[in-house]
Amino acid sequence: MSQSTEDAPVLPLDADGILALAARSMFQLFSSVSQGMFLVDRAGRIVWVNEGYRRFLPDLGLGSVEQFVGRMVEEVIPNTQMRRVLETGQPVLIDLLTNRAGTFVVSRIPLRDEAQQVIGAIGIVLFDHPETTLQPLISKFALLQRDLDDARRELAVQRGRSRLEQAGGGRRAKYTFASFVGSSAAAVEVKRQARRAAQSLSPVLLLGETGTGKELLAHAIHAASSRASGPFVSVNIAAIPDTLLEAEFFGVAPGAYTGADRRGRDGKFKLADGGTLFLDEIGDMPPHLQAKLLRALQEGEIEPLGSNQLVSFDVRVVAATSHDLPALVRDGRFREDLFYRLHVLPIRVPPLRERRGDIPALVEVLGEDLALRNGTAPPELLPDALALLVAQSWRGNIRELRNLLEQAVMRSDTQAIDGAQLAQLLRESGVELAPPVPDGVPPGTDDAAHLLRPLAVQVAELERRAIAAALAAHVSRPECAGERAPGRAGDARRAPPPRLQPVERLERPPAPDRARRGDPVRCGPAGAARRAGGQPAAR
Ligand SMILES: Nc1ncnc2c1ncn2[C@@H]1O[C@H](COP(=O)(O)OP(=O)(O)OP(=O)(O)O)[C@@H](O)[C@H]1O
Ligand SMILES: [Mg+2]
Repeated sequence: MSQSTEDAPVLPLDADGILALAARSMFQLFSSVSQGMFLVDRAGRIVWVNEGYRRFLPDLGLGSVEQFVGRMVEEVIPNTQMRRVLETGQPVLIDLLTNRAGTFVVSRIPLRDEAQQVIGAIGIVLFDHPETTLQPLISKFALLQRDLDDARRELAVQRGRSRLEQAGGGRRAKYTFASFVGSSAAAVEVKRQARRAAQSLSPVLLLGETGTGKELLAHAIHAASSRASGPFVSVNIAAIPDTLLEAEFFGVAPGAYTGADRRGRDGKFKLADGGTLFLDEIGDMPPHLQAKLLRALQEGEIEPLGSNQLVSFDVRVVAATSHDLPALVRDGRFREDLFYRLHVLPIRVPPLRERRGDIPALVEVLGEDLALRNGTAPPELLPDALALLVAQSWRGNIRELRNLLEQAVMRSDTQAIDGAQLAQLLRESGVELAPPVPDGVPPGTDDAAHLLRPLAVQVAELERRAIAAALAAHVSRPECAGERAPGRAGDARRAPPPRLQPVERLERPPAPDRARRGDPVRCGPAGAARRAGGQPAAR
């Protein structure tokens, strides 16, 4: 039965009564839920302490309540800010107090009389040991603080960069070593070499297949060098017609031509003065210009077209090529003297297939970049998609990986992308598919996470690979064209059935009867591929 409204407790009708009630309720609430409370009078003398606070007294070096009450607050609570509250009348709603008793989250509230004069203050210990009780809050705060610091730093870099760009006509490095994604041994080594090269002023020669990140590294080397505040000027030799290259490199003197170019034009050497000149696709340099380039590099001087004046320059050269430069030298298509002039600090940039362990991280970064550019959510690759990507040989390296992801994002209706979608795209671009790598972890990767997996899993994987290799060798044998493997005793390449069991369990749903029977290993590519952890190869 519900209580009648007349019997229900009612709030006082006057405002003062309500406030008094609220104050009393809050006082009681704080007194019961806080860790402890005490009151000081106008002079700062402790006049009251609640039950909860008493447990802090021993840590404050006090043997009894009598040693606490009646003393000046700063005598008994080191580092307290209570005096300030009494003097200013301003509450401190939340503060951290650290003293010999520990660290506490505290509140200090002035007490006022009817004339609003401060007549004392109340001290509340909200939490003791905030490092544990407030851990989630503190961690969240630390994370936010870190994000804020990162954002501030990034903003400062961007502001600095745009100021420099305005001053340098946009000739700045776009990438730093942080842009070079990869923690595999090969990636770490190439970054180490490039960082060392950045410390020197000698020419750098970046050698590597197309799309491996040579241009990115050239930017990064400049950005980490003592010339970072100078211009970074890039010339793609393959993209400029031979007839224009000379003017592009060395510039044109005023009056050398009629018409639009009458006033003359600075060449790239001049534009890069005080900075870095990136000679991209140096292997495509036409022979007649190779001699001129060599002279310029040796003398540190150029002669603009139509001028008989030598102009000196101060440029650090970074060159790159995806051609086999030594082979071009052997064939007489690249000058040997120029080769040695450039080959002072050669850096081999490894192809993606030599650092497959970096593929998951690259996919994440490239996906985020694509999302940022397209204003969409980053793609989410399902494990089978990642396993497929890790297995491919990537002739176009990171550029090819990026293109594939871009196509996948464009063609997928959902954020999630699976292996079948990617396999289709790869086939459409004429790629010969390699079967997916289980767990998305490439064989031989040095990825620490990979090595930290349970030993049993690693051993099983090793077994499976050994068996797959044995099978691959086995099926190519003429006697293996039939259904059953030959039961020749002592054939080391034939996987003994009992050892196959744990591997089978890892690879496919349990088939106890087959495992028990110890079915002979089946010949033929489909069987081999299945045991290798993949689909039948589409070769
Ligand atoms: N380690 C890396 N981390 C992130 N992105 C990379 C990395 N390496 C290359 N890329 C990206 O891959 C693409 C190709 O890189 P880049 O142009 O530097 O290759 P390249 O070796 O100069 O190729 P090419 O010989 O065809 O000119 C670029 O979009 C680049 O940003
Ligand atoms: Mg390039």
